[in-house]
Amino acid sequence: MADTTLIQKIEALKKRKNAVIMAHYYTRPEVQDIADFIGDSLALAARAADMEADIILFAGVHFMAETAKVLAPGKKVLIPDPEADCSLARSCPAGEFAEFRKRYPDHLVISYVNTTVEVKALTDICCTSSNALRIVESLPAEQKIIFAPDRNLGSYIRKMTGRENMVLWDGACHVHEEFSVEKILELKRQHPEAEVLAHPECKASVLAVADVVGSTAAILAHCGRSAAREFIVVTESGILHKMRQSYPDKVFIPAPPVDSTCGCNDCAYMKLITLEKIYRALESESPEVTLDERVRAAAEGSIRRMLELSE
Ligand code: 13P
Ligand code: SF4
Repeated sequence: MADTTLIQKIEALKKRKNAVIMAHYYTRPEVQDIADFIGDSLALAARAADMEADIILFAGVHFMAETAKVLAPGKKVLIPDPEADCSLARSCPAGEFAEFRKRYPDHLVISYVNTTVEVKALTDICCTSSNALRIVESLPAEQKIIFAPDRNLGSYIRKMTGRENMVLWDGACHVHEEFSVEKILELKRQHPEAEVLAHPECKASVLAVADVVGSTAAILAHCGRSAAREFIVVTESGILHKMRQSYPDKVFIPAPPVDSTCGCNDCAYMKLITLEKIYRALESESPEVTLDERVRAAAEGSIRRMLELSE
């Protein structure tokens, strides 16, 4: 089916079924363009809680759709491709995490939203890359912390806060781990005026050469404020679409991973979400995200605590 026909059919289904489409910045450009709401993982979680719709179709990865269902249990939450997983969430299996947690009984658990609902249920406070620093800083200096699952974001927060009493789970995102410092420096030689913008899931050696470190929403907002005309973007390449749409007079250069001929770095999971799958999901009202109520309720506490601390 041609994209224009699909878009018309999706719009008609949305209207008929009182459905909304929420999308993350890493999804395909055509998916972002049909979304009713687009954001980073914090904004998506916050909006899911008060979305006026019977159906939320989540164009993003599974943990994001799960978060929407945790916060809006009365709504039908659809994920167009349940295989849209996340390497970071996968790097922290709930059973192993429960054992890890038992080793540090006096530690407070802070988990990044890129976790399964079962890990969120074992968490005291969730965080995203937008608010992790603020949440850690809101705690007394002597508070011992387990930070999971991203070792890079955890190390960055530890460095920024000077907190030595943070134990890190050893997980990572395969996309952000793969950026090459050498290739970023080579791009910087070619574009000496460009600012380097990096997501905190990147390795410390990459963050060390960045001018700005922030979540997808934070680096997008920075591009609007900055006097720079060129930016080297060290995060998943889907964000370039919104950057180019928002600031058409600026130049955005994707940073390449170590092994790359295409010069950009895609999250294969995010790219599983297509217009065709969105159409089929809305039509059939499946696949639907369903959660065990006990686990959902336990996970909800950790997400609500995060939202309260982000206000
Ligand atoms: P944000 O919190 O910046 O949206 O990032 C989510 C994510 O999956 C990063 O890889
Ligand atoms: Fe997960 Fe990395 Fe993809 Fe983000 S970019 S959804 S952390 S695999």
